[in-house]
Amino acid sequence: MRLRKIKNADEILQNSSIVIKNAEMNFGKWHSYFQNQNPIYLEIGMGKGKFIIEHARRNPHINFMGFEKEPTVICKALRKIDDSINNLKIICDDAENLDKIFSEGEIERIFLNFSDPWPKNRHEKRRLTYDTKLDIYKKILNNNNKIELKTDNRHFFEYSLMQFNKNKFTFSNLSLNLHEDYDDIITTEYEDKFKEMGKQIYYVEVSYGKNETL
Ligand SMILES: C[S@@+](CC[C@H](N)C(=O)[O-])C[C@H]1O[C@@H](n2cnc3c(N)ncnc32)[C@H](O)[C@@H]1O
Repeated sequence: MRLRKIKNADEILQNSSIVIKNAEMNFGKWHSYFQNQNPIYLEIGMGKGKFIIEHARRNPHINFMGFEKEPTVICKALRKIDDSINNLKIICDDAENLDKIFSEGEIERIFLNFSDPWPKNRHEKRRLTYDTKLDIYKKILNNNNKIELKTDNRHFFEYSLMQFNKNKFTFSNLSLNLHEDYDDIITTEYEDKFKEMGKQIYYVEVSYGKNETL
């Protein structure tokens, strides 16, 4: 989806109390930052934020963090966040840098919603389920972890299943037609669009056994 760039997006982010600047300064200190010991849930590539904002609204005892590399997209999300939500923060950065921002075990759950599929083989390294990304997730996730992935892209889904399997994640749930199998789903912007087009949504939930000797 092409989005018209917001010219002063960087300035808007700079002046927002929701957007965390110099996020790496809080490395290893995110619970102190939130001033509680509640679990931290992270959505990588949050887009315009519909999913994470609704999650934060419904679950005030969880700290939510949205990770997104495009400032213009974050500006769109900021417009939807009102003062009643105080358990949601946003970081504008590339997922490549996650392990410079979060230390070992700081994150409990990761959401990968409609991640860019990067279908060409030569772009495999950019996929959010490529080996190096999964290594980062393993590091920053805690012992009670979960990764939830949703996509409309069959190839990316199959690739991600293979990747989770190869990297020794445990599968706890899977659906080949999420909206047929479940009710009361918190949807994303992309998901709403694909649902309207009658497309199938694929879903998988995995966890990583950090205490197991493999
Ligand atoms: C296809 S959109 C999906 C947006 C949203 N999750 C949804 O389902 O509506 C993918 C989003 O991920 C962001 N993104 C892609 N690669 C990223 C990366 N390496 N780090 C951070 N964000 C990324 C893009 O900028 C884009 O906003």
